[in-house]
Amino acid sequence: AGTLRALADNRKLYIGSAINTAHMNNGQYTSILAEQYNMAVAEWECKHTAIAPNANTINWNLCDRIADFCQDNGMGFRYHALAWYFSLPGWFKGLNPNDKRNALTSFTERVIDHYVDRVLWWDVANEAMDDNQPDGGQTPRYRSDGALYPAIPDWVSHTFHVASRALSAKNKPFKLYYNDYGVASMDGWSRGKSNAMYNMVRGLQRDGVIDGVGFQLHINTYYDLVDGVRKNIQRYGELGLEVQFTELDVGCGEWRAPTGEMVGGDRWVPCADWGDAQASRQASVYSALMAVCLDEPNCTAYVMWGFTDRHTWLTNSRPLLYDENYNKKPAWWALRDMLRDY
Ligand code: G3I
Repeated sequence: AGTLRALADNRKLYIGSAINTAHMNNGQYTSILAEQYNMAVAEWECKHTAIAPNANTINWNLCDRIADFCQDNGMGFRYHALAWYFSLPGWFKGLNPNDKRNALTSFTERVIDHYVDRVLWWDVANEAMDDNQPDGGQTPRYRSDGALYPAIPDWVSHTFHVASRALSAKNKPFKLYYNDYGVASMDGWSRGKSNAMYNMVRGLQRDGVIDGVGFQLHINTYYDLVDGVRKNIQRYGELGLEVQFTELDVGCGEWRAPTGEMVGGDRWVPCADWGDAQASRQASVYSALMAVCLDEPNCTAYVMWGFTDRHTWLTNSRPLLYDENYNKKPAWWALRDMLRDY
């Protein structure tokens, strides 16, 4: 049948999956990852709270396990993420703004020192944009997250400048990314947030500290904003920036919050009604997005947030390419056909 990895290699495309160390003792889990993907990202093990749970401890073990797996299997490794309000350790939240800024700086520099030889793509900042952008995103509104903003109003720019300075001093290749959800298209719900992100990123691009943006793409089987995704990729291309799909999953069920970039409001499939029709809808969403990424030269990676329904954060939503028994679903075959024939 050919593996997704071999076919993607032929297309010079990175196809990736999130990895969770909790499942790495399962041979089936790790062999499918190495066989089918040429890139991976840690689901949680490389985040601030996982590496520095206490102010004076740094624990690389779990993130190293994934970095080593990628290195041992010749897979690219995305680092996720240097700064994200949701993955800050408790001790960080108690600091005053100035100490927070210094803690962000030292965490960023220590992670870069440790992973510079094994990471090419860095999610520098994650999910900084507010879901609601009253003026359509012309002046980006940052998410008031209770930890980073408004405590450090420039936390995104600060982290990008620290990362850019630290990595430039290493004389190794690197790509700095901004990552968010609900921002892949420019239509429907995502219009305002997508424009806000674009305008915020233009500032970073003017500063010369960013190389690309990540569209998380947590969507569902009714997603039909693919034309808007193509237009969005193109406008980042006009800025000279790459785009990567970073956390793609296509679920059923109640997954219709704004982060699902829902179109048509309440259209979604209760998972109890899942059948062949929904499996083929899912396949067509995955392959339509693959077609766009293959078409647009600045779309450089197609990464899913896991690969088997057995292990997904969207429990019972059947969002991935393999079912809970590691059997390929129609979506796997649709991507195989797309990578082979498109
Ligand atoms: O901390 C424990 C650890 O001590 C324990 O040994 C381990 C056993 O599995 O579990 C760890 O806990 C949880 C971890 O997931 C296990 O998978 C963390 O408490 C929990 O916070 C963590 O949740 C992750 C979440 O991000 C927060 O980091 C999810 O797996 C992960 O799917 C989710 O991913 C996010 C992206 O980073 C950003 N975009 C949205 C996406 C979905 O929320």
